[in-house]
Amino acid sequence: MTTDGYRPIILLLGPPGAGKGTQARFLHDKLAVPHIASGDLLRAHRRRGTALGNAAQAYMDRGELVPDQLVVDMVMDRLERADTVRGAFLDGFPRTLSQAQVADQLLAARRSVVRVALYLEVPTEVLVERIAGRWLCPSCQATYPSHSSAPPGNGRCVACGDQLYQRADDRPEVVQNRIDVYLRETLPVIEHYARRDLLVRVDGNRSIEAVRTTLCSNLGGVVRGLRHNHWHVYFSDQFRADDGRSDWRGRTLCGRHVDSRSSRERGSEDDFRAHPCRRCQLELRARQGPIPDAPVLPTAQPQHT
Ligand code: AP5
Repeated sequence: MTTDGYRPIILLLGPPGAGKGTQARFLHDKLAVPHIASGDLLRAHRRRGTALGNAAQAYMDRGELVPDQLVVDMVMDRLERADTVRGAFLDGFPRTLSQAQVADQLLAARRSVVRVALYLEVPTEVLVERIAGRWLCPSCQATYPSHSSAPPGNGRCVACGDQLYQRADDRPEVVQNRIDVYLRETLPVIEHYARRDLLVRVDGNRSIEAVRTTLCSNLGGVVRGLRHNHWHVYFSDQFRADDGRSDWRGRTLCGRHVDSRSSRERGSEDDFRAHPCRRCQLELRARQGPIPDAPVLPTAQPQHT
């Protein structure tokens, strides 16, 4: 629980092959909250031959989405377990606008709230290449990239020794459908969280380590509810003029909290675009409104660098 009494939910969104699972397996450990991947849950149901697994099978094999109600019930059921008391890291859910809207209501009824939606952006051609070379461990779900049609290494999971396999829905013709479905059904979900100022766009077309660093820097304090008061803050004069909202207009943050309020810089939009934070070199976040539980700072005095 955070200081406001709400259980924090972190979303990891992105197209098939964007690296959600790869990053989530590391981040949930760091945050000490469970990683709940709707795709992993569905595959586990299929392996156990449950009614849900059998119902989901045909949809998954075609690269279609499993019906909303089945998935929402499955994820909410998982969130009832005791290990989620401090929060949860949801990977691949919600996937449709309807799932997002229902989830918002059901989460609120469970004193839970989405704190941030991390969105991994990767070009389509890179997604196709990554998925074609992906091998997985059926036991621990670890993924291994391969640049040939053969499995990497000796074909066994380094962590648990199990035989690696390729997912049936990773066949090229199914992958294309998964990407089409993503563009049609899931992009509105991205917009849904952007409208609520919860979306953080992350360039996922970089090394696994670089993506991880950016994700970590955007998660500071989210789970513990200790969002710090002070950030490296950048102001855009142009955006100030464009946006009718009050105190937060024009602010862009880097991911790091800092000790003093003096870490502010002001300039034109171009001064900030494509620059890392000049103080700590982290990536600047997209322009945004208030972080939900951050205190509103007084209006900044102009400060040129
Ligand atoms: P799901 O299992 O969720 O699949 P997905 O969203 O299509 O995503 P993937 O698991 O394919 O990719 P990923 O982003 O996790 O990438 P990964 O880290 O493995 O869903 C499967 C099916 O279940 C759906 O089609 C649907 O039928 C059903 N379903 C699931 N959720 C649903 C929902 N909410 N509603 C309805 N139906 C639902 O990485 C991919 C590869 O790239 C790996 O080899 C990895 O090593 C490599 N890699 C990762 N990052 C990098 C990097 N930075 N650089 C280079 N290589 C990288």
